[in-house]
Amino acid sequence: MIKEGDKVLLVDSRGKKYLLTVRDDEFHTDLRIIKLGELIGMNFGESIKSHKDKEFKILKPRIVDFLAKMKRGPQTVHPKDAAQIVAYAGISPGDFIIEAGVGSGALTMFLANIVGKEGRIVSYEIREDFANLARKNLEWGGFGDRVEIKLKDIYEGIDEEDVDHIILDLPQPENVLEHALNSLKPGGFFVAYTPCANQVSRFYERLREYKEHFSRPKTIECLVREQEVKKNCFRPSTRMLAHTGYLTFLRKL
Ligand SMILES: C[S@@+](CC[C@H](N)C(=O)[O-])C[C@H]1O[C@@H](n2cnc3c(N)ncnc32)[C@H](O)[C@@H]1O
Repeated sequence: MIKEGDKVLLVDSRGKKYLLTVRDDEFHTDLRIIKLGELIGMNFGESIKSHKDKEFKILKPRIVDFLAKMKRGPQTVHPKDAAQIVAYAGISPGDFIIEAGVGSGALTMFLANIVGKEGRIVSYEIREDFANLARKNLEWGGFGDRVEIKLKDIYEGIDEEDVDHIILDLPQPENVLEHALNSLKPGGFFVAYTPCANQVSRFYERLREYKEHFSRPKTIECLVREQEVKKNCFRPSTRMLAHTGYLTFLRKL
């Protein structure tokens, strides 16, 4: 049963989605006004009508909805890449992750959903405005219990030890290799997301100094090609998101 303070996803007849907090208030759309207080006591799967009789389906929002509706600052990691990070580094419930930089907190939110209530994420960020934005997004998504955002340059060091994964989305991940030696558990994963090929080359160059400490790296790029499925023509979409970034994975030995 829906309570005051719960998050709900309302979907109108055109498929437009609204992620809202239930409270005694009005929500205005182009299909007119919804009285949010009327949601209290209703169940997910039911429908509510605006005062002009337009129907909205009430759904429970999931991580994909929070990622789609969160406030954005700097460029976020796309879910297709976040999914590869989870799959290739074997991120699991209860894991302890160090992340940098937090940016808008999109990847943080994705990871926080995977590690669950038993897990922990400490996310380093050098910009106070981004740290505040990410904190707000994570609280709004209900992940504030397991994420700490630290205003600190990760190139200067990592304070935490016994870490399962270090996950980086910043310009020079090679500057974190030395710190990873002290904080990662043996077998722990180091993941670097970098948009440009020259960043990957520079990373490999520096990695030579650490080759006895890490497994051989693996670098991938993830391309997702959506399909148009129509009655008389089933084919790939003309447009696709071509390049986002490279993902480099290594493990501490
Ligand atoms: C592209 S954004 C990260 C986006 C984030 N992964 C997401 O999905 O929302 C890169 C962030 O790294 C931060 N950053 C850059 N260098 C850093 C450093 N040395 N230590 C901590 N944060 C850093 C930047 O301020 C920026 O917020």
